[in-house]
Amino acid sequence: MTTADPLQLLETDALTGLRGLPDASVQVALTSPPFYLLRRYGTTATWPDGWEGELGHESHPNEFVRHLLDCFDQVWRVLKDDGCLWVNLADTYNNRQGKKGTTNAPDGSNGRFAAGGKGYAESLRQQPEFFKHYIPTIGHKSEIGVPFRFHLAMTDSEFRRFVGAAPGPQWICRRTIVWAKSLVNLETQQARGNAMPEPTLDRPSRNYEFLFLFSKRPDYRFDRKAIDIPARSSIRRGDRANCGSVWQTDYQVLADSDATPDGLWQINPEASPYRHLAMWPRSLVRQMLLPTTRPGDTILDPFAGSGTSGQVAIELGLNAVLIEPSAMARDALSDRLDGLNMALPL
Ligand SMILES: C[S@@+](CC[C@H](N)C(=O)[O-])C[C@H]1O[C@@H](n2cnc3c(N)ncnc32)[C@H](O)[C@@H]1O
Repeated sequence: MTTADPLQLLETDALTGLRGLPDASVQVALTSPPFYLLRRYGTTATWPDGWEGELGHESHPNEFVRHLLDCFDQVWRVLKDDGCLWVNLADTYNNRQGKKGTTNAPDGSNGRFAAGGKGYAESLRQQPEFFKHYIPTIGHKSEIGVPFRFHLAMTDSEFRRFVGAAPGPQWICRRTIVWAKSLVNLETQQARGNAMPEPTLDRPSRNYEFLFLFSKRPDYRFDRKAIDIPARSSIRRGDRANCGSVWQTDYQVLADSDATPDGLWQINPEASPYRHLAMWPRSLVRQMLLPTTRPGDTILDPFAGSGTSGQVAIELGLNAVLIEPSAMARDALSDRLDGLNMALPL
């Protein structure tokens, strides 16, 4: 691998990888870190506070937020002053019974187990503490509020201190986007989209995730017109409408194979062969990169997973730096980037 490659893959944990990157070398960082208590990727790392474990499995959500700050403090250094950072996060519930997820990679598996297999279930059984994870300071069945804690710690030095982090960068949160996996029209009672069905009947179902847009400075590079859509009332005049802050990503307009570069993407997260990795829809990545980059810019994803951000970046004429420690994720990454005829440094 040379620095001239449009795609650099660092096979290590986010903090180690970020520490080795030069100052002000990236225009946009975009990422989806592991969500708190949601999955196991088998990626243990050592953190500056001495804790050794897998990000997202700290005993309290504030410790998780502190570890995210460790990473995003480094992203601040690596980002250009007029650059920006997109972070995708969703919440989870506190549960006295603990977690019963089956999509998690057990410790030591290095992410190589397929969810549901016999060896997988057996390995999970040997980790009873994972199933019993309960946060005593938060009520049984309560939403934990992880995205809100993170937003506050990134933007308010007082809250940063509250989660136990040393003084550090103060981000500006420019917008919280709702990534809607389904939308319900209350008037017509019609639903569209493909959020995961949920059996829980004593609350509305979960059908969205948050996407935070952060900048280092009040003035930064963002061209909203790049993602505005034709206004229905004024198509003939060519007006564009504000793209809004609720993003629905299940368009069924063009196939992936369609040659038109500016078309909408067909998105179906459930059909992804890498779904155990919580893969991003490509349209979501395009939506983040179109208003914030110009061809030739470098983007960074410190929790790259199957490399969706890298694939879209290359297709948009950008350079990408991806960090990913899990072998399973890198297999997916190599598989999908083969389609781009790219030689990967694996
Ligand atoms: C939500 S997934 C990212 C999915 C990605 N956006 C995609 O489209 O495929 C989070 C990724 O973070 C990785 N990860 C877990 N702990 C990490 C760490 N300490 N440093 C870097 N990556 C880590 C996991 O292996 C997983 O692939």
